[in-house]
Amino acid sequence: MVSRQCVVVAGGRGAQWNCPEAAGPFGPGAGQVTSILQIGANGQVASELRRQLAASGVAHQVLARPELDMAEPASVERAIDAAEPFDILINCAAYTAVDRAEEEEELARAVNALSVEAAARACKRRGAAMIHISTDYVFDGEKDGAYTEDDPVAPIGAYGRTKLEGEQRLADVLERFAIVRTAWVYSHHGNNFVKTMLRVGRERDALRVVDDQHGCPTQAGDIARMLVAVAGQMDKPGAGGIYHYCGAGETSWCGFAREIFEQTAGWAFAAPHVEAIETKDYPTPARRPKNSVLSTSKIEQQFAIEPRDWRDALAETLQELARNEDASHHA
Ligand SMILES: NC(=O)c1ccc[n+]([C@@H]2O[C@H](COP(=O)([O-])OP(=O)(O)OC[C@H]3O[C@@H](n4cnc5c(N)ncnc54)[C@H](OP(=O)(O)O)[C@@H]3O)[C@@H](O)[C@H]2O)c1
Repeated sequence: MVSRQCVVVAGGRGAQWNCPEAAGPFGPGAGQVTSILQIGANGQVASELRRQLAASGVAHQVLARPELDMAEPASVERAIDAAEPFDILINCAAYTAVDRAEEEEELARAVNALSVEAAARACKRRGAAMIHISTDYVFDGEKDGAYTEDDPVAPIGAYGRTKLEGEQRLADVLERFAIVRTAWVYSHHGNNFVKTMLRVGRERDALRVVDDQHGCPTQAGDIARMLVAVAGQMDKPGAGGIYHYCGAGETSWCGFAREIFEQTAGWAFAAPHVEAIETKDYPTPARRPKNSVLSTSKIEQQFAIEPRDWRDALAETLQELARNEDASHHA
């Protein structure tokens, strides 16, 4: 069953994007948005995109489990073939359990590569474009400096391998596509580093956090706004291909943790001491890139998208979490 989130089509194809929230930090660059088919409903990015599109007045359908199960690529084609007409598919679904992927690479590959190809094939039949999210984990992290879209890929783990294969399969099938690699995603919703830090920070006086992996924290709401802006400009000459998008500025996981506790200084718990450690002192099943910093120049120039400082986006998410906590205490 296809759940129709919003069926108001203002003028059909090329309806003007008129959601001030979705224009957000990108200002007027959001441009023209057509009818959207979204895959994935409840993930960090999927929830934000769903919320923003539902508020927008743009025709919007969502496909998710159980109707569409990316562990079964055939179900992806079937579900998309049965969808109402759409111009752009945005895929927010992925197998994202980085450590578990080391043991479940076939499942991760079905979701992140084979089903992405299946979605691309279905888009081709419908004459639709596809916007797909990928990851900094396609790189090995050995570069000194921010990764550009032209840098050589060399994933060091199963998750990154499957995501890279998904990129390649999509690009082999479809001409009109945008792959946007992002990194270090967090939200007030779902499981992520910010929520983990707040939980363990309340329980302990001291935390040890890795300080030799660097990246750019990226808010899921900002990713959703970026996706909407890209969708609205897919018909622009030269649009399409691979892009990088992440929060502006960079830090380490330790720096990220310290910023979280600095910004929550007024909250009803004593900030823990955050000790900087090295990756070798915190072994995990999957290796992570040391450098996940992505250059966003290309997406900024082509789509007039300006990533905001990661600390400002974090402040907004923390406010949202505080509001949710208040609401739950007073419920
Ligand atoms: N999280 C990060 O730090 C990070 C970093 C770099 C790139 N990315 C990329 O960003 C994108 C969004 O990530 P996220 O953090 O929003 O992910 P997330 O919160 O883990 O959500 C994953 C989404 O995928 C859907 N999904 C998983 N398995 C599925 C299956 N078998 N069939 C159908 N749907 C399935 C989930 O479905 P339900 O809606 O049913 O729950 C959910 O909507 C992904 O492409 C990810 O690779 C994430």
